[in-house]
Amino acid sequence: MEVPGRVWAEVDLGAVRHNVRTLRRRSRAPRLMAVVKADAYGHGAVPVARAALAGGADSLAVATAGEGAELRRAGIRAPVLVFGDLTPEGLRAAARERLAVSAHSVPSARRIAASGLDLEVHLKVDTGMNRWGLEPGEVGAALKALGRTPDGVYTHLACADSDPEATGRQLALFDSVLAAHPFGGALAHAANSAGTLWHPGSHYGCVRPGIALYGLHPAGDAGDPAAEGLRPALALKSYVAAVRRLEPGEGVSYGLTFRAPEPMLAATVPVGYADGYRRALSGRAEALIRGRRRPLLGRVSMDACVFAADREVRVGDEVVLLGEQGGGAVRAEELAARAGTINYEITTGLNPRRVERSYADVQGS
Ligand SMILES: Cc1ncc(COP(=O)(O)O)c(C=O)c1O
Repeated sequence: MEVPGRVWAEVDLGAVRHNVRTLRRRSRAPRLMAVVKADAYGHGAVPVARAALAGGADSLAVATAGEGAELRRAGIRAPVLVFGDLTPEGLRAAARERLAVSAHSVPSARRIAASGLDLEVHLKVDTGMNRWGLEPGEVGAALKALGRTPDGVYTHLACADSDPEATGRQLALFDSVLAAHPFGGALAHAANSAGTLWHPGSHYGCVRPGIALYGLHPAGDAGDPAAEGLRPALALKSYVAAVRRLEPGEGVSYGLTFRAPEPMLAATVPVGYADGYRRALSGRAEALIRGRRRPLLGRVSMDACVFAADREVRVGDEVVLLGEQGGGAVRAEELAARAGTINYEITTGLNPRRVERSYADVQGS
């Protein structure tokens, strides 16, 4: 772990609880499964899982058996579903840790049955994303291979944030699968964050939001979380380590891609792409220092970058790379658009070996 004080993430667990409650209000489903895979999208799986459960989540989801085991090691006893494919070793770990598993294909249903392990199983059906899951025509064979009624049956929506017609087609196909087979009391689920917010027809027995738990907008690089009643949970901060004067024509950082057009001040901040502050932001992002937006000058390097400054800016000043300061805000959606990516990758890409995380409840419960 890094020595504190260089670059840090502040995670507001009150915001996570608030977002869970907001999503529950928007959902018709009796249950909510909080998706905390990938270390809770870079926010820290264990504290976020606890906050989500305290906010009203009924269960959790992760991508791998290892992620589920981390929750169990922390003493979290809530139901946990593993979305990802599991090898025989992965299935044994899931049984040991009491994690529910996904059957993605007929061979995976067969492997689960052959393991002889006492596992909760959710069948995953591919209704159009063409990534994971049983083709609708394979569901009968998977049920036969499994040899019993699954505990859950689910699908994943490819574009609930952007294409209502394609989403409608996926849901119609899912409905036809649910009607065609004897699923008994299996829990049906389909809605990611976008489905939870905008497609009531996807709610079924349980919604499965991820990105919105963190107060981030499901559109990825656009949209205002506040317009959906969501509160961003993570702020990324650093400090001004040096202030220097640039003469006209002097360049900044590798490649000298920024040249000072006139005499100006520049603040060096010890955050770089090794921390997860992406190099694609070079020359494009802004940060807040002393309550004002300051353009990033030139390239982001591995451990540092440089922002425009003025005489107000002092060594030691707080720099808000993501989050709020003095009434202004830099949102993950803005950084994503500027870096040519999505908010998911902005927070998930933070490097926990370098970015110290602290937890607070600054927005209350
Ligand atoms: C199967 C499944 N369900 C739900 C989610 C949550 O999606 P989102 O973060 O868009 O809400 C994911 C995330 O990728 C997923 O893979």
